[in-house]
Amino acid sequence: PIGAIVANASAGERLLAAGKIGTEEMAELLADIVADGRRAGEIVQGIRTMVRKGKARRSLVQINDTIDSLLRIVRAEALGRNVTVTTEVDSDAGQVWGDPVQLLQVFLNLAMNAFEAMTALPSNALCLVIRADRNENGDVLVSVRDSGPGFPSGLAEQLFEPFFSTKAEGTGMGLAIARGIVEAHGGTISAENFDGGGACFTVRLPQAKEDNSQAA
Ligand SMILES: Nc1ncnc2c1ncn2[C@@H]1O[C@H](COP(=O)(O)OP(=O)(O)OP(=O)(O)O)[C@@H](O)[C@H]1O
Ligand SMILES: [Mg+2]
Repeated sequence: PIGAIVANASAGERLLAAGKIGTEEMAELLADIVADGRRAGEIVQGIRTMVRKGKARRSLVQINDTIDSLLRIVRAEALGRNVTVTTEVDSDAGQVWGDPVQLLQVFLNLAMNAFEAMTALPSNALCLVIRADRNENGDVLVSVRDSGPGFPSGLAEQLFEPFFSTKAEGTGMGLAIARGIVEAHGGTISAENFDGGGACFTVRLPQAKEDNSQAA
């Protein structure tokens, strides 16, 4: 909605400067701007409520448990969409200190985006790959990869900006929220396109120590 507001307001400015706009057209433009402004406000309000409700409940989270919960939801969705789900999950993917519900939310947002990216493809070409393992520092890595068209090159960072969306009904908040959650957990999230097609989103989270000294 923010993009639409700017576009409408700029059009109004241009038409006004050129003396090419009547009161009625101007009123229509303004009404659109007001409607979009309200929608943006509602989205922000919704997120505020969600964040407040979701008082972080942190505990030691086995990342494999989170992936299991993710797969239960993703497999059901994949069935309806004819998507083949492949997993490459290290049985010792490790543990992180965090909020299990928020972390599941992150991976679900990535999986939903992956499904949505593949809607226009023939059904024999739909693959979702979910990986979980650790890097050389012991950090936990979870990635969600699809066989869709990928995102426009050069936009890997913009995707995470609030309200950035290329979908008619998208809020553009999915990845912004995901990044907010991941960073609150001391991690990072990034996007890359693959040469063979498809986008891959990778979440890195610091490995939790065995004791609870991070509990505070
Ligand atoms: N797997 C993907 N493949 C290609 N493009 C993607 C992928 N995931 C995200 N994107 C791009 O990033 C944009 C932002 O994603 P984000 O999840 O933040 O919002 P959205 O999906 O458009 O809206 P919402 O999450 O509210 O449904 C998408 O509109 C799309 O252009
Ligand atoms: Mg999304």
